Amino acid sequence: MQSSNISENTILEKSYTRADWQRGYESLYEEFDYWIDDIEGEIPPELQGTLFRNGPGLLDINGQPIHHPFDGDGMISRISFVNGRAHYRNRYVRTEEYIAEQKAGKILYRGAFGTQRPGGWLANFLDYKIKTIANTNVIYWGGKLLALWEATEPHRLDPYTLETLGKEYFNGALSTGQPFSAHPRLDRSCQQDNGAPCLVNFSIQPQLSTKITIFELNPAGEVIRKQAHKVPGFCFIHDFVITPNYCIFLQNPVTFNPIPMLLGIRSSGECIKFHLDRPTQIIVVPRNPKAGKEDIKILETQAGFIFHHVNAFEVGDEIVIDSICYDSLPEVEPKSDFRQVNFEANAPGKLWRFALQLQNGTVERKLIESRACEFPAINPANVGQQYRYLYIGATHAETGNAPLQAILKIDLDSGEKQLWSAAPRGFMGEPIFVPRPGGETEDDGWLLALVYDAAHHRSDVVILDARDLNKGALHLKHHIPYGLHGSFTPEVFVSP
Ligand code: CO
Repeated sequence: MQSSNISENTILEKSYTRADWQRGYESLYEEFDYWIDDIEGEIPPELQGTLFRNGPGLLDINGQPIHHPFDGDGMISRISFVNGRAHYRNRYVRTEEYIAEQKAGKILYRGAFGTQRPGGWLANFLDYKIKTIANTNVIYWGGKLLALWEATEPHRLDPYTLETLGKEYFNGALSTGQPFSAHPRLDRSCQQDNGAPCLVNFSIQPQLSTKITIFELNPAGEVIRKQAHKVPGFCFIHDFVITPNYCIFLQNPVTFNPIPMLLGIRSSGECIKFHLDRPTQIIVVPRNPKAGKEDIKILETQAGFIFHHVNAFEVGDEIVIDSICYDSLPEVEPKSDFRQVNFEANAPGKLWRFALQLQNGTVERKLIESRACEFPAINPANVGQQYRYLYIGATHAETGNAPLQAILKIDLDSGEKQLWSAAPRGFMGEPIFVPRPGGETEDDGWLLALVYDAAHHRSDVVILDARDLNKGALHLKHHIPYGLHGSFTPEVFVSP
């Protein structure tokens, strides 16, 4: 047990207890559908629309624990804001594998991040089939609600009932089993489409070399541009950034050894090795689909490991990218229990700015924020553009690594910072920025986030005024297991 060698003093200094944090990882088996009546403060009447969130809702299959939260079945939460009221509904994405495991009442598949079928290596020997979980993000685009998971095609859901309708292929633009990443970026005013909005996403198909495909979708949800390129080596790329002219991918310095996976002793996630001594490669792909292989530029920097980027923008020939970087990637060990993770021993995510000079291929980097942080958000109008404000999940304490308990707002122009914390018993999820209709300044809007409240073993939908971080909260009747990503649409969907 890790807690045994921690002194009493350290425990008192902490902003949280492990027992509180762990309870946010209990499975939620029920599917709810109700108007929220326990409200602290007031729901701003101009806040109209729907917040969709996705994340692993089941941390066990009928009592058999899964090995890593990333292997948990995707559960969609929907919070609808309408005329000063709010409605909650949640449903599991009915992937084929979810249905089969619920019917069997036991784990039937290997997970990408370490869940093995019971029976040891023999049961998992040469079992390549990895469970589809649809647990990472959920977006509403082109009249379709899509649950996203980066290793396969999206699942389409009914936005009113959250019923699973099937897999989505965008009229054949996506082939069977082809990945579609969980981190699309919205270009509010696309140069190539005379200023019409456009959703940009990618897929990564890693083998000895990696195929990167870029998709651009119009507001009707049709793929109007598609380009594919091969880049050298195995890529683990979870997120990307866009500017008006480029898609930019930061390729983490990792290698993949599939042998232990094929032998059944390790999962695919446990076969990824991080190399601190190797540079991160920055792959810059022009968005113009007429661009050829010779137009792709690959730059190098020292970055560590990156899951998420905040934003990118162009200033003349320079490209600026803001990202959360870890000094190393904590490796998932076969026998470890994620609930016992030693936060202090793992490198915290920190916010860095990279400035790329495309002409001479140089990269400069500078640290913006050393407090441990993850899950960034900005005003959606500024995606790919110069911007001033960012909001990010952060630790309560200024130094060290710990669960996220706060939201940090950073003014990139002045360097001013503001922190709103839910410590000691609250645990923070990803904030989403929702612009106030008719708002005049970049930070005129609300931050919506799910906060797990260990004191009541329930979750709150926290509404912060993004200008001053003033709080209101909706208390749910139950908890929501720690989630991953979500999105907001001004369209209102409530149960029929
Ligand atoms: Co992500």
